[in-house]
Amino acid sequence: MKVLNFGSLNLDYVYRVEHFVQPGETLSAMSQAVNPGGKGLNQSIALAKAGAVVSHAGCLGLGGEALGELLQKSGVDTGFLHFTDSIQGNAVIQVNAEGQNCILLFGGSNHCVTDTQVTETLAHFAEGDYLVLQNEINHLPLIVDEAYRRGMKIVLNPSPYNEKLRAVDFGKLHWLLVNEVEAAQLSGSKEPEAAWRKLHEQYPRLNLLVTLGSEGSVAFTVKGTVRQAAFPVKAVDTTAAGDTFTGYFIAGLMEGRSLQDCMRRASMASAISVTRTGAATSIPEREEVEKALEGRT
Ligand code: RIB
Repeated sequence: MKVLNFGSLNLDYVYRVEHFVQPGETLSAMSQAVNPGGKGLNQSIALAKAGAVVSHAGCLGLGGEALGELLQKSGVDTGFLHFTDSIQGNAVIQVNAEGQNCILLFGGSNHCVTDTQVTETLAHFAEGDYLVLQNEINHLPLIVDEAYRRGMKIVLNPSPYNEKLRAVDFGKLHWLLVNEVEAAQLSGSKEPEAAWRKLHEQYPRLNLLVTLGSEGSVAFTVKGTVRQAAFPVKAVDTTAAGDTFTGYFIAGLMEGRSLQDCMRRASMASAISVTRTGAATSIPEREEVEKALEGRT
């Protein structure tokens, strides 16, 4: 069983601030850094660190060479990466004193995926293989349709949430991984249980996982509901916490672990990641996650 992540790669321009800049305000940042990121890249690295054999497909642009090198160094297969002469996808990220972030995205190279690239890449994958997607690249509806036709298990993290998602057939998804806000945006219900009921009625094949920040996470499937508490830590930077959770969660599913175990491992990996700065650079190794889980319920 293989996993393909068709996803974004970003250069993250990160600014530490006392508070998020307000409309009309000019604010001096306390520090600045350029880090590897992008929900796609972060999730591929989390998958690899969690022990999965993962390929990353997507588009690198001008200035993004180091992102491909980092994926390779992290053990991710980069054979399906294409090169474009567009500017590399990027993000401007403010991180405040509490470690919370706000993110401004520019698609750039991430929006240069071609339909030929989609069909040629997916031809290398078959029934039972996993496909991981976020909403930072173009051609999402085509990728979902092609992967479904091939019998792949499609996991979508519909982030950032926007109108373009309406063109995606959610009935073809295996798992939907969302935070509380996205769950409400997709279903119209603020309460995760009610969101699940609505989504399940509409898309009976779909499994739903909702991350709830310091409240942990909850998964809904036809077999029942599984809850996992968060592991409390002092947050330094929450960027990529959700991506870390996603990578570890899917790697757990691929290993055939119980849902509770997948969520527990993902929750610990994500807790460790928020104690470190940066996105991809904050993702812990599998051994570290397992050691931290020893003796804990
Ligand atoms: O989830 C965090 C990521 O969101 C950042 O690395 C940024 O690039 C945006 O894609």
